[in-house]
Amino acid sequence: MEIIERLESEVRSYSRSFPVLFNKAKDAFLYDAEGNRYIDFFAGAGTLNYGHNNEYMKEKIIDYLRQDGIIHGLDMATTAKSVLLEKLEKIIFKPRNLDYKVQFTGSTGTNAVEAALKLSKMVKKRSNIISFTNGYHGLTMGSMSVTANAYYRDEAFINRSDVSFLPYDGYLGKSVNTASYLRRVLQDNSSGVDIPSAIILETVQGEGGIRVASDKWLQEIESICREFEILLIIDDIQVGNGRTGYFFSFEKSGIKPDIVTISKSFSGFGLPMSIVLFRRELDIWKPGQHTGTFRGNNLAFVTAAVALDYWRDDKFSREIFRKGKILYERLEAIKAKYPQLKAEVRGRGFIYGLAVSPAARAREISTECFQNKLIMELAGAKNHVIKFLAPLIITDEVLNEGLDILDYSIEKVLKKK
Ligand SMILES: Cc1ncc(COP(=O)(O)O)c(C=O)c1O
Repeated sequence: MEIIERLESEVRSYSRSFPVLFNKAKDAFLYDAEGNRYIDFFAGAGTLNYGHNNEYMKEKIIDYLRQDGIIHGLDMATTAKSVLLEKLEKIIFKPRNLDYKVQFTGSTGTNAVEAALKLSKMVKKRSNIISFTNGYHGLTMGSMSVTANAYYRDEAFINRSDVSFLPYDGYLGKSVNTASYLRRVLQDNSSGVDIPSAIILETVQGEGGIRVASDKWLQEIESICREFEILLIIDDIQVGNGRTGYFFSFEKSGIKPDIVTISKSFSGFGLPMSIVLFRRELDIWKPGQHTGTFRGNNLAFVTAAVALDYWRDDKFSREIFRKGKILYERLEAIKAKYPQLKAEVRGRGFIYGLAVSPAARAREISTECFQNKLIMELAGAKNHVIKFLAPLIITDEVLNEGLDILDYSIEKVLKKK
């Protein structure tokens, strides 16, 4: 740890929340250099939905390496890429009646968001974008300009122009329909909100504190987009890839976004890869117009193709909902057991948050969980939401063991008061 603290920039973050040296991982477990086992309820911030070192994927890449398969391929055509695209079309697009083109961007999520914003502006020839309160879309300049949290938005350098923030579903309380408010400001050419090229949103705000948009709200946003000829971008970087029980988080609401950003768990194995999906007619890119060196992570193509096998039928999805129910019920029980926390359970599928009060208690609880060998991170503007993002493949036994740790960690924290 000493070299990390001395040499790595102050910008490091998770090594502060979990200050041990990790050196091994399998399924829902991480191990430190001393061999201690930790249950991972964070899963690389939603990157390891299929678990650490997923056995099927590991076997496939070992074979691929043995055969000297292409590792880096710029964006050249490779067998690994064509296999992935064929499976994406067959297993994901066709059954969902989606006719998307696929753009491979630079490898992190924010690269996909940048491309989506740029494409929207090119297509619509309008500069404005609408984003929502508590939205999180990454931290490069364009993505950061649509990210709401002030912690990241330094007055000195962020480009604040061309983005309007509107209230997300529930922001003004349950009784206020914020989609109606959006429609109203778009109808009024004196509202100060310009018609945007695109509206970007998460169906469940992850970093923003596990805020779930209702199906009705999403449907209304979609219809506003159609009415005003605005592109709808769903940022599915964190809650896509099965996190809500569906491959895409928007499936439940029945909406059809124009553009979708995908990253994190898409490669399945934790290898970096991001893609943007968009309606065929929107594909106005000129060759190489949005290029980059690392858009051909062929190892990630190999593992992503294996990950798609989980979606050949609805078995995996049903398992996610089944485990999600266990999780939800246990979180509700924890909430009832500790009324002092004034807790609120938020989420759907297999992404949940336990919002607690006062906010600082959330960090005390996650620190205590870590002492007890459970890894949980926080979300929300005040870091007051204990966030649950365990791998989707976790067994009932490990899930319950982790929740037991959460339960007695809370008890211990409250006893100290
Ligand atoms: C919804 C959403 N969009 C974009 C990003 C940015 O992804 P990355 O950190 O890989 O750049 C994140 C990261 O947490 C995210 O949750």
